[in-house]
Amino acid sequence: MLPSATPDGYSIACLEYPFPGDPAVSAEIIVALHAIVGDAGLKTGDTDTESFLTDWHGQYRGRSLAVVMPETTEQVSQVMALADAHDIVVVPQGGNTGFMGGATPDDAGNSILLSLRRMNRIREIDATNMSMTVEAGCVLQTLHDTTEKQGLYFPLNLAAKGSCTIGGNLGTNAGGLNVVRYGTTRELTLGVEVVLMGGRILNLLGGLRKDNTGYDLRHLFVGSEGTLGVITAATMKLFPQPVARATSFAEVRDVSAAVELLHRLQAASGGGVEAFELIPADILHVVFHHFPEIPQPLATRGAMNVLMEIGSSNPASGIADDSGETPLQTIMQETLATAFEDGLVIDATIAASEAQRRALWDVRENAPESHKRSRGVARSDISLAQSSLAPFYEDMVAAVKTVDPTIRICGYGHLGDGNLHFNLVADERSNSEFDSKKDQLYELIYEHVAKYNGSISAEHGIGQTKRAQLAKVKAPEVLDVMRAIKASIDPKNLMNPGKVI
Ligand code: FAD
Ligand code: LAC
Ligand code: ZN
Repeated sequence: MLPSATPDGYSIACLEYPFPGDPAVSAEIIVALHAIVGDAGLKTGDTDTESFLTDWHGQYRGRSLAVVMPETTEQVSQVMALADAHDIVVVPQGGNTGFMGGATPDDAGNSILLSLRRMNRIREIDATNMSMTVEAGCVLQTLHDTTEKQGLYFPLNLAAKGSCTIGGNLGTNAGGLNVVRYGTTRELTLGVEVVLMGGRILNLLGGLRKDNTGYDLRHLFVGSEGTLGVITAATMKLFPQPVARATSFAEVRDVSAAVELLHRLQAASGGGVEAFELIPADILHVVFHHFPEIPQPLATRGAMNVLMEIGSSNPASGIADDSGETPLQTIMQETLATAFEDGLVIDATIAASEAQRRALWDVRENAPESHKRSRGVARSDISLAQSSLAPFYEDMVAAVKTVDPTIRICGYGHLGDGNLHFNLVADERSNSEFDSKKDQLYELIYEHVAKYNGSISAEHGIGQTKRAQLAKVKAPEVLDVMRAIKASIDPKNLMNPGKVI
């Protein structure tokens, strides 16, 4: 088919982004895509596609032949068959909130950006099996709202919940705020439906908790960042809805006191810790600098703090006694009191209402946005054994101070599961010098992660940002097996190339 036969808008886009060597082929492909997904599923103009081609941080900017938004698994399969026939790269995308540039194509302009956002149906909620089967484009917040209406709970929770999709969560094996109790996305996944390059549909859906029938392929796709196939749907675990919570913001003596407090709270609450986040003073400084309207949790800003929450699905745990305290608040209160006597805790507040709880979470949940608004930031996403968290932190603080004592050390995050975002932020006075020090700072972080046998990516993945670093830290034989898996599933390297490996 020739360009003259294409609808106007599409032929113009083809001329702007010619398929290598042959604009007529571009036009033919656009027409074929249009035949599969229709007007509503195809975007080609610069204005329409821009937000899909830039990542959340505005760090990467790509180009593509078209943004394609299928509505069904069958349409995804047809797009993948077309891509395979013409050797076109496919870059899957969900909410485009990822941190590693994994959903942004390169700037060659010859890829299909496959957005799953229109595949957003909840196929089934099976309350008896405590599971749901949902399409990849479902926004996480929508899954929370829908399950909550049925008294059920989907515990994956991150500050991007209003925009990220379950497909992207699966693609990155997202972690978030509640991993300490419920595990990562992988641990919440019972099954997936995947479309491979060429169009084959792998139906690995199902609500079984146990199934040892050969290799568990679902785990290959969870965390594969769109490099192996397109996840079109998944069966996810559900839990009883927590109806009672106690939430506290506490200043602690140091990181080792925070770890000790976590273990005490787990024991006191019978494993009921829903979230346990580390919040050093420097991140409070950065958050309140950008969000001055958020209330300060404590009268004075302590050097090291935690935000912790325990929860229960038993309504009795939330009913206040004569003193006005609920059983969960009593557990929190007593744990804090003993920790105070033992010198672990210096000051603390317990939320007395949902509004106060929300205000405490606002401090924590605005951390990523406050870093986005800061000029100089070296970001990281590391995990360590809990026994290594305190020594790592102390070593790192000393090492960063030798490079530049004015850098804000914002090592915050999911202490409950050993995951810190050890971010280094330029002090207002030293912004101009910060960039020249970034490489040195990243080296320090990765050197210390290696020293303490940690991971360079706990939950954000590798994408394009950490590809070179992954190659440095993984053993060659492990990388060989990864490459062999990739080559066997996507032999032409058309699935999101340039990411992960
Ligand atoms: P995208 O960004 O669109 O894609 C991410 C990756 O998954 C890409 O490689 C893409 O190719 C692939 N992908 C997307 N959809 C599919 C699919 N259907 N099939 C196959 N591959 C696919 N992350 C955490 O883990 N924990 C946090 O606490 C956290 N907090 C955040 C807070 C904020 C404010 C923001 C902006 C981000 C945060 N993130 C966090 C990062 C991000 O939200 C997660 O990585 C999320 O899982 C990405 O989902 P998404 O739908 O936006 O995916
Ligand atoms: C967070 C994101 C950045 O935990 O993972 O804030
Ligand atoms: Zn995080």
